[in-house]
Amino acid sequence: MPNPRVFVTRHLPGDALDLLAEQTDVTVWPHELPPPRDELEREAARSDGVLTLLTDRIDDDILKKSPRLLVVSNMATGFDNIDLEAASRHNVLVTRTLGVLSATTAEFTIALIFAAARRIVEGDRVVRSGEWKTWGPEVLLGRDLSGATLGIIGMGGIGREVTHRALALGMRVVYFSRRSKPALERRYRMEFLGLDELCRESDFISLHAPLTTETRHVVNSRTLAIMKPTSILVNTARGALVDQGALYQALSEGRIGGAALDVTDPEPIAPNDPLFSLPNVIVTPHIASASVATRSRMARLAVQNLLEALAGRLPKHAVNREIARAWRQRVRKRGVAIRSKMMERPA
Ligand code: GLV
Repeated sequence: MPNPRVFVTRHLPGDALDLLAEQTDVTVWPHELPPPRDELEREAARSDGVLTLLTDRIDDDILKKSPRLLVVSNMATGFDNIDLEAASRHNVLVTRTLGVLSATTAEFTIALIFAAARRIVEGDRVVRSGEWKTWGPEVLLGRDLSGATLGIIGMGGIGREVTHRALALGMRVVYFSRRSKPALERRYRMEFLGLDELCRESDFISLHAPLTTETRHVVNSRTLAIMKPTSILVNTARGALVDQGALYQALSEGRIGGAALDVTDPEPIAPNDPLFSLPNVIVTPHIASASVATRSRMARLAVQNLLEALAGRLPKHAVNREIARAWRQRVRKRGVAIRSKMMERPA
């Protein structure tokens, strides 16, 4: 039986690709930029599995043209780049790298909170440009984290890791999520609030929700209008959670205090975007999970998910588990099942 064919949309860190090459016939897109749509379409059409990144859009059209495809393994915790409903309709399994990036992303979130609160990027700019004249009692005054209220929107694994760290810094944590989490509330001494209440009460608001039709533009002109004029918005989740035009308006009119965005809509953000005219905005290039160890773990887990699926086993991080039966039948019928020497689970 020939090895299954797999397409990987970029070179990956660590040894993940070697593990994949041992058991599959793998093609890796060799360029820095993502494969253009026609290439992705061509490769997906002749593959049993694809390993995608959040920059690769897998939609109904691609899925329709890929009758061999059994699994899309997304190397991300989010999966809004994949039309999940279409994948399920075509009985294609979708997996993600849940869990392995939560701590690293939370660390970066805290870094952005500090950077915005204490005006670190602004300070660096002032020094480099020669504008710094002397130590002054009123130069670049920022805000303390200790005693401040952090409002978290979306209380999954990353939200939880941020909570843990924020509490250690002496912050009060409130959250808004699809469902309240009483066990977490008891464990972390945090409070569930309605969205509007959270916006009104928080000194910092950090987004950790997936991008869905319900969460798109959860930060909009209405919610921005009820935030404190000093509040700082932090987004390490997905750019489209924020109505960026409304954010610019609120910031430029001084209706909120600042923003630190690791994600934007679109990505990359245009270098002449009006947000860059504002000193109280920090933008980083979607790097919250970008530590050496975490990106290697993500790559390994994405490969592991792919191999497990090609071996006909339902990976722990399958998103559309409800199609498991029909999907298994497809795997069996196709007869691609590999031996899948299982790797250890990434820590
Ligand atoms: C990164 O943004 C991810 O979803 O993993």
